[in-house]
Amino acid sequence: QKRKTVLDIQRMKAEGEKIAMLTAYDYPFARLMDLEGVDMVLVGDSVGVAVAGYEHTLPVTMEEMIYHCRAVARGLGQGFLVADMPFLSYQVDLREARLNAGRLVKEGGAQAVKIEGGEHVADIVRAIVNMDIPVVGHVGLTPQSIHRMGGYRVQGKQDQQARQLLNDARAVQQAGAFAVVLEGIPAALAAQITATLDIPTIGIGAGAACDGQVLVIHDILGLCEKYSPRFVKRYADAATLIRQGVRSYIDEVKQGVFPGPEHSFS
Ligand code: KIV
Ligand code: NA
Repeated sequence: QKRKTVLDIQRMKAEGEKIAMLTAYDYPFARLMDLEGVDMVLVGDSVGVAVAGYEHTLPVTMEEMIYHCRAVARGLGQGFLVADMPFLSYQVDLREARLNAGRLVKEGGAQAVKIEGGEHVADIVRAIVNMDIPVVGHVGLTPQSIHRMGGYRVQGKQDQQARQLLNDARAVQQAGAFAVVLEGIPAALAAQITATLDIPTIGIGAGAACDGQVLVIHDILGLCEKYSPRFVKRYADAATLIRQGVRSYIDEVKQGVFPGPEHSFS
C-alpha cells in the first residue's frame, strides 16, 4: 500500500471525507493503527505526558521526538506521518526552527511538522514551508502555552478571543500551512473556522464540524485510568486488559505453573 501524501489529505477535504488522525509514539501502535487505515499519524509531544509521565509537554526534547518518530515511521505503511515540534525547538529564531523541522524529516522520517500558535508564529510556518516541509498549524488550546493559559481550559469563549482565534487560523493558512489542528474551542467557533478556511481543520475537543478528528491513542484505548477529559471517547479498556494479563503472569510464576514443558527446551 502507498503512503498517503499532502495531496490525499487535501483531496479528502475537497470530497468531504472525514480525516481520522491519532497519535502514536512507537512501532507496534503505529503498525496496528496503520493496518486499520488511520489517515494521519501524529508523533505528538503529548508523548511526554502519555509515555514519559511528565505533567505537561514542555520538557520534551528534539532527541526524544526524533527517537519516537523513527519508531513510528517504521510501523507505517500508508498513514501520513506528522511530528510535533517540541517546546523551544522553533520559538527562538528562524534558523533553529528550520534546522529542527529538517531534523524531524531527515532523521525522524516525518512527512510534515506541527507548530503551536497563530499570528505570532506565521513567520516560522512560512520559513519552514519555504524549505518544502509541509506544516500543520495548531490553534486554540495549545498545551505548550499552559503557563500563559493558567491550565488546560477551553479557549475562544469570549467574542474577542474567538475573533483572535479566527485570525490565528487564517494567519497559519496564509503562511502556507496545509492543515490546522483546532484544540479545545467551542464547536460553533470550530465550525466557523472550518467554513472560512480552505485547508482542512482537524479537531480535538472542537466539535463535529471539523474536517477531521485527532485524539491521543492512550486516551481512546483507556490506557490511563485516572485521566479522561470530556472530549475523549474511550473505545477500549486497555488498562483492564493489561492488568489482567500481568496479574495472570504473576500468579502463574508464583504458583510454578509458568513456564510449562511447552515453554522449556529439552
Ligand atoms: O501532542 C499531541 O498529541 C497533540 C494533539 C493535537 C493531540 O498535539
Ligand atoms: Na502536541
